[in-house]
Amino acid sequence: MDELNLKNEINLDDLEKEAIENLKNVQNEQALNEVKAQYLGKKSKLSQIMASMRELSNDAKRALGQKSNEFKRKVEEFANKKRDELINAAVNEKLKKEEIDVTLPGKEFKTGHMHPLSQTIVELEDLFVSMGYEVIDGNEVEEDVYNFEMLNLPKGHPAREMQDSFYITDNTLLRTQTSAVQAHALLKAKGKPIKVISPGKVYRRDNDDATHSHQFMQCEGLVVGENVTMADLKGTLNILAKKTFGDELAIRFRPSFFPFTEPSVEVDVECFKCHGKGCPLCKGSGWIEILGAGMVHPNVLRMAGYDTDKYQGFAFGVGVERITMLRHGIDDIRTFYTDDARFLKQF
Ligand code: DAH
Repeated sequence: MDELNLKNEINLDDLEKEAIENLKNVQNEQALNEVKAQYLGKKSKLSQIMASMRELSNDAKRALGQKSNEFKRKVEEFANKKRDELINAAVNEKLKKEEIDVTLPGKEFKTGHMHPLSQTIVELEDLFVSMGYEVIDGNEVEEDVYNFEMLNLPKGHPAREMQDSFYITDNTLLRTQTSAVQAHALLKAKGKPIKVISPGKVYRRDNDDATHSHQFMQCEGLVVGENVTMADLKGTLNILAKKTFGDELAIRFRPSFFPFTEPSVEVDVECFKCHGKGCPLCKGSGWIEILGAGMVHPNVLRMAGYDTDKYQGFAFGVGVERITMLRHGIDDIRTFYTDDARFLKQF
């Protein structure tokens, strides 16, 4: 060994100590690589020692070989250990920086939900689908023929004035009633039995107040078949009322007039505010009208190509806002159309 130290003027043991000391002090991977290169790389002291090997005796060569391998192994081992330490420290530091304080109060995410009018429509659809009805769509922009003429309301008919309309051209208007789907549905059914409902928006040139709006929703129902009678209509509307109001509010059938039904009825529900006594909401009558209905006028069936000796039908049109107001005790129809979340949240 003396020969080695003498020749190289370097003691590998000391060099190892020095290398390890330097590795201990490095603060990052780059510095670590530099120190490693300084002791093990091409221009390292170790390389210088190896270069001088030629001048040694065979024994000394072997000894130096062994010694330098040992040196390399130890320095590398220590460098690897140090590298692991550095990586762990970096990860820990990152984790510490990203630490989340789970005790802080979280952000409140407000979720929306279905509008009360949509809820009513979905419930109506469920009820009628369970009774074998099909749900169909209609047009909000409608032709006069469908909104009036094919419903037995020719041009100039005085009953057209029951529904002040928004005309777009002489022959197109914003439909005033979902009854406008009737002729479409009948024509499509080509003289065959039919059982449909159709919910949607309708428009009237009305002054808005607590129970009226220039735009509101209806749900139309139409059944045509053999042996369809007024008793079927009454039974169906009773189911609808029971399902919608339970036993809480009384209902009544009242004779009425619609050009597209004969006979015609209207159904009223007991006013939820005064329970029949009469108040401003029900305009003193104690009742709130929720729907019009009747046996489909033979003219309507005939115009759509039905054999009226064989087929009869009943139809009804429910006010969606009206029944929603009655169910929830809402006393102003206009609240449905505001975007006031405090109102909408309640349903
Ligand atoms: N369309 C009528 C209205 O808006 C309601 C109505 C009455 C619909 C009788 C019908 C019906 O289907 O048969 O006032």
